[in-house]
Amino acid sequence: MELNFKRHRRLRQSTNMRALVRETYLHVEDLIYPLFIVEGENKKNPVKSMPGVYQYSLDLLKQEMDEIVSLGIKSVILFGVPEEKDSTGTGAYHDHGIVQEATRAIKEQYPEMIVIADTCLCEYTDHGHCGVVEGDKVLNDPSLDLLARTAVSQAKAGADIIAPSNMMDGFVAAIRKGLDEAGFEDVPVMSYAVKYASSFYGPFRDAADSTPQFGDRRAYQMDPANRMEALREAQSDMEEGADFLIVKPALSYLDIMRDVKNEFNAPLVAYNVSGEYSMVKAAAQNGWIDEKGVVMEKLIAMKRAGADLLITYHAKDVANWLNEK
Ligand code: PBG
Ligand code: ZN
Repeated sequence: MELNFKRHRRLRQSTNMRALVRETYLHVEDLIYPLFIVEGENKKNPVKSMPGVYQYSLDLLKQEMDEIVSLGIKSVILFGVPEEKDSTGTGAYHDHGIVQEATRAIKEQYPEMIVIADTCLCEYTDHGHCGVVEGDKVLNDPSLDLLARTAVSQAKAGADIIAPSNMMDGFVAAIRKGLDEAGFEDVPVMSYAVKYASSFYGPFRDAADSTPQFGDRRAYQMDPANRMEALREAQSDMEEGADFLIVKPALSYLDIMRDVKNEFNAPLVAYNVSGEYSMVKAAAQNGWIDEKGVVMEKLIAMKRAGADLLITYHAKDVANWLNEK
């Protein structure tokens, strides 16, 4: 035989041989589970466009937390769905706001659980934008003060990590300063540093009731066509004191994730967003794809692209599958 070629299949011939050369792993410790909290009692409202995802009232959140803890999940990210909204999103920075109360409840029940508070105004504003609005513009600087107040009230309630998702310029600086001045210098900021104006957020906006009432978010979230801009966004957030960087969405932005990972020395978080979840769920419910296979493949792809942590609505399913073996 004259042929001279490399036998790559030598390293793929058995389960154990494949395990020996596996480069990337997914652990239950990597998972951050998003929770939607509603006001009222005895509520477990299914989110129509996100099968398996519910909005919980505080009383029913307890059982959900029992399940999350029993699966080995160690961190959750909280989104509030308030009953009342106004033009400046007062509910976001109220000391007894829905996320503040949920944080207290979770930390009382499970002090070790890492509670991450999403810091934005869009769930609390009647116009549905992530900052203060004047005419058809979302104002940058006047929004910063409200975001810092939101972060401080979340930290006061016991949040372990502040995760600002609003995409105003200077939000990390404003929030860091607010936290430090209030004595929360040990509370880290997990910045949604690289957040694109994406159609993949559609189902989330049902879940969080945060659809903009006019216009869209393209004047503050990033253009999906841009790559260099992601590095500028991540750089300024690092300079302003971010402790974690989020890239969002995940699946269509794996190249960006790798760029950010190579460039910056901070834990990198992939946000596997609502639309990415719902597409998989819908196809699986139709019997068109194998849900477990597809979910595990897409999450390992995010880790391979450089993500250290994954915010994902699949977290409970994944924890179950990881615990199976
Ligand atoms: C709010 C926020 C959004 C998401 C997380 N925080 C929606 C948006 O910016 O419109 C999206 C999450 C998802 O789609 O799963 N600022
Ligand atoms: Zn927002």
